[in-house]
Amino acid sequence: MKEKLEGLLREASAELEKAATEEGLQEIRVKYLGKKGELTSVMKGLGSLSPEERPVVGALVNTVKAQLEEAIDARAAVVREQVKAQRLAAEKIDVTLPGRRRPTGSKHPITLVTEEICSIFAALGFAVAEGPEVEHDFYNFEALNFPKDHPARDMQDTFFVGDQVLLRTHTSPVQIRTMLKQQPPVRIIAPGTVYRCDSDATHSPMFHQIEGLMVDKGITFGDLKGILTLFINQLFGKDIGVRLRPSFFPFTEPSAEVDIACVICRGKGCRVCKETGWLEILGAGMVDPAVYGHVGYDAELYTGFAFGMGIERIAMLKYGIADMRLLFENDLRFLKQF
Ligand code: PHE
Repeated sequence: MKEKLEGLLREASAELEKAATEEGLQEIRVKYLGKKGELTSVMKGLGSLSPEERPVVGALVNTVKAQLEEAIDARAAVVREQVKAQRLAAEKIDVTLPGRRRPTGSKHPITLVTEEICSIFAALGFAVAEGPEVEHDFYNFEALNFPKDHPARDMQDTFFVGDQVLLRTHTSPVQIRTMLKQQPPVRIIAPGTVYRCDSDATHSPMFHQIEGLMVDKGITFGDLKGILTLFINQLFGKDIGVRLRPSFFPFTEPSAEVDIACVICRGKGCRVCKETGWLEILGAGMVDPAVYGHVGYDAELYTGFAFGMGIERIAMLKYGIADMRLLFENDLRFLKQF
């Protein structure tokens, strides 16, 4: 009996040595100490022993059982440590490795040009104003002196949303909204998205404009010319030629179109300027007194000028972009260059 017990202890110790997982240890525990385990079956055999032997062997069984439990617990502690060490090794992070760089985006050329233009005018005391892209006919046309059935409405192929509601065809309605809210002096610049039902290589149904408006006592056409020339010189360089041509807009009188000397050929004549040496970049003029009537300004007291320009066109000229569609395709190879 004694030998058998010692044999069991040795056998169990050998198995414990090899056990490397908590599950393996649990199997050993069941095998020797469980209800149907080896030690239990020895205990069951105690009944067949003589009354003298019984307490001796019984005590021995208890000792072996205690030793076995202790050995299993000790091994379990070792295994737990090993498992933990393995997990730590597997989860180890080398903090000295160089980091992975996230690609940084860049600003879209339209955004860049808008910001540059706004900052030039901010330095001249102009505040940025905004208005809705879905506009009422009153602000987009009526108050800008485009009466119903006026042929000038046809120049702006309008997307209608409802009978009197449309996608704004220009940023000029922001002039009206601003003047209705405040009395002169007014000095605002209004960048924004505009819509016209027009689409080809040089026209997009959605594009961007910047509007400017300055109204005060004693503003003259000389101020218009001075400020726009200063602006153009800051944006395109101080030697660039500037000229004004008479034009027509319902909401300005007199009206002008502003040209700059071709940035490609510097005025000699090329494909971009259609051999004229000039590029049109702005519409402008003195605010028509009829507009003041719509916003409640005293036309005897105040004068002012307004101007508007297409941002896509400015961006194309400034960065030498030949096809406007590049500005809308958002090809990263193109955008990364800015
Ligand atoms: N709103 C005009 C257009 O879109 C441009 C413009 C603005 C002209 C302000 C004169 C004054 O064509």
